[in-house]
Amino acid sequence: MRPALSSGGANRSWQGVFAPADGGPEFWWREQVVERTVRAGRAVDGNIRGVIEDASRWDARYEGREMGQPAPPRGLHGIELPPPGRCLDVACGLGEQSVWAARRGFDVVALDVSPAAIKALRAGAREHGLADYIDARLVDLDEGLPDDVTGSCSLVICQRFRDVRLYPQLAQAARSGGVIVITVLSRVGASQPGPFHAPPGELVDAFSSLDVDIERSIEADGEATLVARRRQSEGSR
Ligand SMILES: C[S@@+](CC[C@H](N)C(=O)[O-])C[C@H]1O[C@@H](n2cnc3c(N)ncnc32)[C@H](O)[C@@H]1O
Repeated sequence: MRPALSSGGANRSWQGVFAPADGGPEFWWREQVVERTVRAGRAVDGNIRGVIEDASRWDARYEGREMGQPAPPRGLHGIELPPPGRCLDVACGLGEQSVWAARRGFDVVALDVSPAAIKALRAGAREHGLADYIDARLVDLDEGLPDDVTGSCSLVICQRFRDVRLYPQLAQAARSGGVIVITVLSRVGASQPGPFHAPPGELVDAFSSLDVDIERSIEADGEATLVARRRQSEGSR
């Protein structure tokens, strides 16, 4: 029998504070965001609008949708994974990769700004009998990763979400020997490259200066994928 996930401790998650487990009225969530942002002294007409627009836009896409088939992240084929421990799924969406990881024995922390996505993920996790192994949190990644994930993850997944400010934190979330797999939109091979597409070499350039070894880099067809492994620290060799 696998142990249940702990509640997580100190972090910047909104889970339990801004989103009841069964979801909640969107207006209520918006009010909480505004209140929280004002409390934090952030500009109400700047970042807050961005956060609400992010969530609303994605909510509209996710509304009424259910989790699809569990699926591995892109690019992991043939990569040796460390023994299951904690897995972080960043910008998890409906959670197909979270469930894939939980099925493989990982205890997953899944993060997304969309209440509809988190609600669908929790429902999907229950259907797969994996609710105890997926800690789905409503989180604004503009504020960075929750503190409690740092250095704790055997596997870090970030698929189809790009924020260059997060790259160092993604590497730091992995424990020694932990694998990071990230896929972003890329200008390489894109039919209509836009502002969200990474310039060629962005992932390799960013992760080359971090404490990781790059095991795979693919840039083609409008997507870039990088697989990296956190270097072993002296004490863990
Ligand atoms: C293209 S989807 C990718 C979903 C999933 N990783 C996948 O590959 O299917 C991008 C995700 O990023 C989330 N997102 C966008 N802005 C965010 C933010 N500021 N904080 C947290 N999540 C965000 C969206 O809600 C959405 O689920």
